[in-house]
Amino acid sequence: MTIEIHHADFLEQVDGIADASIDLIIADPPYGLGKDFGNDSDQKSGQEFLRWSQQWLEAAIPKLKESGSLYVFASWQYSPELFAFLKTRLTMINEIIWDRRVPSMGGSTRRYSSVHDNIGLFVRSRQYYFDLDAIRIPYDEETKKARSRSIFVGKKWLEHGYNPKDVWSVARLHRQHSERADHPTQKPLELIERMVLASCPPQGRVLDPFAGSGTTAAACARLGRQCLTFDINPEYVAIARARVAAILQPQHPRIFQESSCPE
Ligand SMILES: C[S@@+](CC[C@H](N)C(=O)[O-])C[C@H]1O[C@@H](n2cnc3c(N)ncnc32)[C@H](O)[C@@H]1O
Repeated sequence: MTIEIHHADFLEQVDGIADASIDLIIADPPYGLGKDFGNDSDQKSGQEFLRWSQQWLEAAIPKLKESGSLYVFASWQYSPELFAFLKTRLTMINEIIWDRRVPSMGGSTRRYSSVHDNIGLFVRSRQYYFDLDAIRIPYDEETKKARSRSIFVGKKWLEHGYNPKDVWSVARLHRQHSERADHPTQKPLELIERMVLASCPPQGRVLDPFAGSGTTAAACARLGRQCLTFDINPEYVAIARARVAAILQPQHPRIFQESSCPE
């Protein structure tokens, strides 16, 4: 299995990736909200942020295979513009709302407290890969029993689990969480693994242009997919490599230490 974790600016390396070589892009870019990633990547003003977003999206899209998919994380502040732009290039399949399950403790006083991310799912063509069976959610015995009317018996959704909906309620990672690494916006593996299972075939190749703590790389290592990631912060790159090494240790992973970008 090849997991490549590069310390590099995605836009400087993207030309080295072959067109139509990627099954799935999972992009969790800076949000345009002034977060501190140990660099100034999230300090762009509104118009500058949107211009930069269009630039990396234009560069990334041709890397997708015809059957490929893109998941992109966005904030409510910019998702309307980003999704409208993406709809001119790709087909929009879903807007997924990630409910971060933020505990209720006060919050905003002049507006409703924001507790979700907007995730756009876009595809290149109607022949996109999507493995529903890999992400079915099994019922617990009690609920299953309650739904066991004769007309439902034998239904796949009852026996093997129901089809996930477009609101994903998954708690963000608390400081004490066993998955937690030193990154301010680390995503839970549960979210990313669902994307990988649903939208990348086994042994397929995933691209994460903004890897952070390496959640996508870790998910790919766990699920047997190839992965190619970039981040400009060397400390996050080290964290990502360590996470993947901890998962793959006995199998001696092939992790590139260079920022050169083999196809
Ligand atoms: C929202 S975070 C990603 C978090 C990641 N999904 C995780 O679970 O840890 C965005 C990351 O993009 C990185 N970044 C910003 N600009 C970049 C660029 N041009 N190329 C590559 N990485 C960049 C930042 O350093 C930051 O770690």
